Amino acid sequence: MKAKVTLLSGDGIGPEICQEALKVLSAIEDKYDHEIEVREALFGGIAIDQTGSPYPDQTRVLCKESDAVLLGAVGGPKWSDPKSETRPEKGLLDMRSDLGVYANIRHIKTYPQLIENSPIKNKYLENVDIVFVRELIGGIYFGQKERNENDAMDVCQYTKDEIIRITQVAIELASARKNKITSVDKANVMATSQLWRSVTTDLIESQFKDIELEHILVDAATMHLLSRPSDFDVILADNLFGDILTDEASMLTGSIGMIPSASLGNESFGVYEPIHGSAPDIQNQGIANPCGMILSLALLLRHSLKLETEASAIESAVNETLNQGIYTADLSNKDVVDTATMGSAIASNIL
Ligand code: IPM
Ligand code: MG
Repeated sequence: MKAKVTLLSGDGIGPEICQEALKVLSAIEDKYDHEIEVREALFGGIAIDQTGSPYPDQTRVLCKESDAVLLGAVGGPKWSDPKSETRPEKGLLDMRSDLGVYANIRHIKTYPQLIENSPIKNKYLENVDIVFVRELIGGIYFGQKERNENDAMDVCQYTKDEIIRITQVAIELASARKNKITSVDKANVMATSQLWRSVTTDLIESQFKDIELEHILVDAATMHLLSRPSDFDVILADNLFGDILTDEASMLTGSIGMIPSASLGNESFGVYEPIHGSAPDIQNQGIANPCGMILSLALLLRHSLKLETEASAIESAVNETLNQGIYTADLSNKDVVDTATMGSAIASNIL
């Protein structure tokens, strides 16, 4: 097949791990006879440096002309002055909103090979398999913001329609899994959470009787993720709570470097990125783990290009590479390989 993908390498370790994803993409193109045109565009801090904007018009146009976007990471100390006018992260939020990708899916599954690497006791980690559905283009990230020297404000707002559409994504995923949704909120304090709780309850109780719906307060959720992680199936959360809980949950797998994500809207188009961020502290040292990025490519092939066999081939290649004892530094404390060796090993394991 032919397809167009926009590549936004971004900042920090973004370019290094994107190179490895491209190796794996080439292996897929060769083995399965596809022609996937990859067009690179400026995004994030590097785009601020070169154009003044973290999400320049040219990048916006390329993204909109593509079947999917593959994104490394954005941000770094160079652009984090709290007083600066624009930040790389603003580009990320603008892009998500502009492209309408309201559902961010983050799958947290333990790899038996990496279980020793988790800071959590192994007895809690068997059978952990959680799909997070994070609302991505609403809530406090996108509400009115004001700031002056002595006073600042972030408004958190959700409409019923926004809550319904993200709940529908969770319902669809749960229906193909264990039929269980845990919805996270702070309904004892926040008005948006009270609306969230009543809308999710009404929708699921009236139309999806097979689905078991559990509500849990976000503070308790942080605890339950550690004490009973294997009880969860699909976790539904708003933008802020989903951001925080998925970083926490990544530790169940042993390394945040392993976790991909898909940001989806109503059509097959999507934005695919690892959840770990730009990690400027390890930039250009050749030690970054490319797995989250490579697994994001797998999600791109599955959801946007409908290439299930190829997506599974990438996931199997990552698994096989771990089976071969090939690890980056975040995954083991002995005999580790660099980013490029890990990427090449995965590419050569594509069958
Ligand atoms: C993520 C990141 C972003 C977010 C940052 C970089 C703005 O943490 O994708 O989880 O908060 O959404
Ligand atoms: Mg985050």
